[in-house]
Amino acid sequence: MPTFKLDGKTIPFEPGDTIIRAADRQGIEIPHYCWHPGLSAPANCRMCLVEILPKPGQKPLSLDILELDPKTGEYKPVQKPKLQPACYMTAGEGMEVLGDTSPHVQRARHDVQEYLLLNHPVDCPICDQAGECKLQDYWLEHQKTSKRMHDEPVHKPKGVEFGPTIVYDAERCVMCTRCIRFMDEIAKDPVLDMRERGNLNEITVAPGRQLEGHYTFMTEHVCPVGALTTKDFRFKARVWFLRSAPSVCQGCATGCNAHLDYDPRYNKAYRYRPRDNEKVNKYWMCDEGMLSYREAHDGRVTEPTVAGKPASTQAALDEVKRLFTGVPKDAIAFLLHARYSLEDNWALRELAMVLVGSHHVYASGRPDGYADDILIHKDKNPNSAGIKQLAPGAKSFKDLLGDVSLGRVTHVVSLGGSAPEDAGGLRDAKVVAISAHEGPLTKLARVVLPATSWAEHSGTYVNAKGMRQIAEKALEPQGASKPAWKQVADVATAMGYSPSWSKLKGIRAELIGTAAADRPSGPVLPTVGNASAE
Ligand code: SF4
Ligand code: SF4
Ligand code: FES
Repeated sequence: MPTFKLDGKTIPFEPGDTIIRAADRQGIEIPHYCWHPGLSAPANCRMCLVEILPKPGQKPLSLDILELDPKTGEYKPVQKPKLQPACYMTAGEGMEVLGDTSPHVQRARHDVQEYLLLNHPVDCPICDQAGECKLQDYWLEHQKTSKRMHDEPVHKPKGVEFGPTIVYDAERCVMCTRCIRFMDEIAKDPVLDMRERGNLNEITVAPGRQLEGHYTFMTEHVCPVGALTTKDFRFKARVWFLRSAPSVCQGCATGCNAHLDYDPRYNKAYRYRPRDNEKVNKYWMCDEGMLSYREAHDGRVTEPTVAGKPASTQAALDEVKRLFTGVPKDAIAFLLHARYSLEDNWALRELAMVLVGSHHVYASGRPDGYADDILIHKDKNPNSAGIKQLAPGAKSFKDLLGDVSLGRVTHVVSLGGSAPEDAGGLRDAKVVAISAHEGPLTKLARVVLPATSWAEHSGTYVNAKGMRQIAEKALEPQGASKPAWKQVADVATAMGYSPSWSKLKGIRAELIGTAAADRPSGPVLPTVGNASAE
């Protein structure tokens, strides 16, 4: 692989890489505002300037400038190297680049910072970006001087509603154009643009339009400062109180990698942010996915019920025992659910096929919905591919309704409360639902056992591309909820069986090591799909 030198360090690069991208791959940050690895490079912020040393025999690129001599108070002509934007310059074999170690680069970064802050309101105490703002970070790293301008700064519009989700503060904007380029290049809806010139520049929405659609939250995410905020998150939390868990969006079968930000003091989730994964979602998420963090709290089942009334866990399990005593195994159906992890579904499949010895295995999930060719998949479940791997012969929810109506199935153990279609036909069966969320099945179930949501335990999901990805635990279990695979073990015990699983590690070992010969019904699962998530 070809290499170049950055401040004396050897940096490998792929042909066509810019200096900033090659450095970024090595975990070296060259300060930048307008550059984003997923967008085109306009090279307009000038924060990434670097010095490129001439090759032997090459004439250096330099500029004639006037510099103030502090001793005489006069300007004198001097020369300085012409700095180049690292976000635009293509890396070349043997190139010698100076960043942190060049006094000219240090001066340029300082001056760009000072220029950007000339009219900036510096209202950090009331700004949602405080704590994760590039202006703050780079001031500390590259400027550290107080404001010299004493004139009234230029005032621009604040609190402008760009649409139903995003609010714009023009005074905080550094005009990097990332939001414009995101809407143009990724969302394919060029609804944002820049107007005016110089210090009157501001971002504007196309006349007659508003910033709307399925990808508005990403404009806030790419904004390096506090100019764009989401109505959902603004003024809700200070980011330094939040912790983050590597998660996987549960909104559809794409399985976008995400950071789930939560406040451990209140056991409360506050937002999702995309977690970069070139193979799945690159740097992006959709609005529906970004808002789906709310499902960590909304519509949750947190306590057991028997016949719709609150009950203790023991009373619920006693009822399970009573319900299943003497029921022939062929009358019991097991309903897997594509919203639940591989571990949860594996446990239910194990109960069905190994302990009970039934082949009445069915699969459920949320109904299909909107899709596009950017990220959003029509399958609104995060683990449909996992169910297909675990139980390729599972029958459909419609089949279950048919078997219940024909009297072949009288009892159902189900994962999840939602269904792809009207579940009313299950009223004729005795249903035990192990669910994290309320839904038609929890409403008609005789016994409901609360399961932890994806945010409260570590779980594996197989996305539409067949990649296994792990969503890690963020929150503590709410109420009496437990991971569904534990609830399945309790149900198995109540039914009179001895479950073989008691630890997540054991289930994962089964999932990785299971050979087709060991479990005739089970497939061989790929061991690694997403290295970053595993
Ligand atoms: S609003 Fe943010 S992303 Fe858009 S140009 Fe201004 S600083 Fe850049
Ligand atoms: S595309 Fe699907 S997985 Fe990705 S953020 Fe949206 S809902 Fe979530
Ligand atoms: S990152 Fe803005 S000019 Fe290079």
